[in-house]
Amino acid sequence: MAEKIDGKLISQQIKDELKEKVAALAAEGKTCALAVIQVGNDPASSVYVGNKKKTCAYIGIESIAYELPEETSEQELLDIIDKLNKDPKVNGILCQLPLPSHINEDHVIHAISPEKDVDGFHPRNVGALVIGEKGFVSCTPAGIIQLLKRSNIEIAGKHCVVIGRSNIVGKPMALLMLRENATVTICHSRTQNLKEICKEADILIVAIGKPKFINADYVKEGAVVIDVGIHRNEDNKLCGDVDFDSVEPKASYITPVPGGVGPMTIAMLMNNCVEAFMD
Ligand code: GUN
Repeated sequence: MAEKIDGKLISQQIKDELKEKVAALAAEGKTCALAVIQVGNDPASSVYVGNKKKTCAYIGIESIAYELPEETSEQELLDIIDKLNKDPKVNGILCQLPLPSHINEDHVIHAISPEKDVDGFHPRNVGALVIGEKGFVSCTPAGIIQLLKRSNIEIAGKHCVVIGRSNIVGKPMALLMLRENATVTICHSRTQNLKEICKEADILIVAIGKPKFINADYVKEGAVVIDVGIHRNEDNKLCGDVDFDSVEPKASYITPVPGGVGPMTIAMLMNNCVEAFMD
């Protein structure tokens, strides 16, 4: 039976550590602010943005909300970002994705100053990760590293298989595991013999985007299994990319959904905001 990695508990520890740091800075009269931009009112984005603002309030970071109408033009959005880039009171800038289809996401990602890019999406921050320089790291993969480290799971020398190659999760995840001295394999939709490769993994990180896709047949006895997926099943219950009931008896550690990787993303966003402020 696997030990469950409690992402809710670990994220709470991180948030409390950050709250203390922010309080110490506030005592010196220093305040930290995050600009949170949402264009349109996609319901899922509204939930995420609401949680980000709530967590800012908990930690003591000021959140400056920009709730822009769906019809906002790309230029209007870029002008707001330019103003925020130049505003010394603003330490971090986050533009919630996805954006309406008439706005080019790449233009927006490039426009945010790398020093305020707390999402870690700017090519300069991605490049810094590739060559091992300091920079902001995408929050979900950074959160997974924290889950592993705070659960005392050895990474160096282990074979890590990452399923998924997105810019936000798969690619930075693979780079972070490499930085921690794992041997890394990246699998994706065109990978042949996925099952055989997964069965070689000491640490299997699944961001495949298909509910309950990974069952015990994909998992080596004693492997660590990290599930990045989040879906609603037929009964409207949340589930991940991993078939938890099938994999749990075979794994040594496993993240549940909900309460595994999910809560770590916001904790690491807050960590990036505090870093943006300290630098
Ligand atoms: N949409 C889904 N996840 C994210 C994220 O981590 N950051 C931003 N900005 N948008 C998202």
